[in-house]
Amino acid sequence: MNPIQRVMVLFGMLMLPVMAHDYGDALTKSILFFEGQRSGKLPPSQRMTWRKDSALRDGFQIGVSMHSYSRIKVDLVGGYYDAGDNVKFNFPMAFSTTMLAWSVLEFGGFMGSDFPHAIDAIRWGTDYFLKATSIPGFVFVQVGDPYNDHHCWERPEDMDTLRTTYAVTKNLPGSEVSGEIAAALAASSMVFKPIDLAYSARLLKRARMVFEFADKYRGSYNDSLGPWVCPFYCSYSGYEDELVWGAAWLFRATKAAYYWNYVLQNINNLERNIGASYSSGSFAEFGWDTKHAGINVLISKASASQFFLIMTDSTANSYPFVPNADKFVCSVLPESPTVYVSYSRGGLIFKSGGSNLQHATALSFLFLVYGRTLSQANRVVHCGNIVANSARLIQFARSQVDYILGSNPLGMSYMVGYGRKFPERIHHRASSLPSVNQHPEHIDCNRGSSYYNSNNLNPNLHRSCRGRARY
Ligand SMILES: *[C@@H]1O[C@H](CO)[C@@H](O)[C@H](O)[C@H]1NC(C)=O
Repeated sequence: MNPIQRVMVLFGMLMLPVMAHDYGDALTKSILFFEGQRSGKLPPSQRMTWRKDSALRDGFQIGVSMHSYSRIKVDLVGGYYDAGDNVKFNFPMAFSTTMLAWSVLEFGGFMGSDFPHAIDAIRWGTDYFLKATSIPGFVFVQVGDPYNDHHCWERPEDMDTLRTTYAVTKNLPGSEVSGEIAAALAASSMVFKPIDLAYSARLLKRARMVFEFADKYRGSYNDSLGPWVCPFYCSYSGYEDELVWGAAWLFRATKAAYYWNYVLQNINNLERNIGASYSSGSFAEFGWDTKHAGINVLISKASASQFFLIMTDSTANSYPFVPNADKFVCSVLPESPTVYVSYSRGGLIFKSGGSNLQHATALSFLFLVYGRTLSQANRVVHCGNIVANSARLIQFARSQVDYILGSNPLGMSYMVGYGRKFPERIHHRASSLPSVNQHPEHIDCNRGSSYYNSNNLNPNLHRSCRGRARY
């Protein structure tokens, strides 16, 4: 960003109408979203009642696939559908579960009546991942033939598409997806420790096993499952970051030296491997495929907390985590001389590719966590001649969240169901087709097209159990 663009961004931010946002309402609705994505047998506590049971035979069907293990039958009922379709993509699903767990570990104490729903959202993921890793030597990584699914516009309750199961094995490895599942299980085990000790222990034991499998049989699921995972959720940044990320979570969950040493030994390889890109772009990335910034913030946080005495260790200065996390901050903050990300005129982080808000939300989350770490450690970040303190990091995260909730040039909320004006024709099969309550008859693959092509608003609001009623 050149100085003129930077002034425009800062000016744009000042010009926005000042709005007070109801973060509690946004939290409630973001957790409700996960209920709308549920696959499998829905519990009586389900609040999104326009959704019904679906995909009750996932894993039991013998899939049509190029791999012989598709003849193995395993219960894979449950988990979450991806975005607006009916495939279960375990790589991004595991990352979402890790992030839900991290959110609860960090902010659960502020969640009030949403806390039990956040716990349910995590458990819906981890129950499924326990199934997906229940056969030693296999990690199931996907359910549903993505081409067949994308070809049909169908409610999950009506699905008659191919529910092929895909797995990685010793000979056909997938360390990124296995590493991320290990991270999700380890992070979630920490959440459940004070709630359900036996379940927590089960998650942790499985996390260790899955991590060992991911590390021992190294490779990308790109190469093992080729066209079934690409171009959907290819591993663009390789699997090395997920192995370190998985080890970092296992270290936090177990405090075992083995995982700490693993992180230390491999973080430098990670930096060497990504070489030049690590000194520029990768620092400003965090998402389902790229974990670098998350690793540095997570470990820096652990270092600053009372549990770990890493900072007082005589070799502490040689650890890269805190300098890397500082560098991450300097690559994102708009006023930093080394800013790497772009901003829209209204001040939103903008990256090329789809689903832009994933970047704004994930990076903001890290800013909140690191902002708290800085205040705990009584530190500030220096970006050239700019000093960023904890309050600045938190203010930055808030600016991104406020933009999403409506403090933007269009005065529109980008969170469905939040505020007075929000997107009402979202690309989402279940939301855009009439619910089974209104339309019990089966709607097949082709008949769904008329709803897809319709200009009507989606009949099901993907956050509320009360149809289109608003408050
Ligand atoms: C996976 O495939 C994508 C798309 O072809 C490619 O850009 C990426 O480098 C591949 N990743 C690995 C780890 O091979």
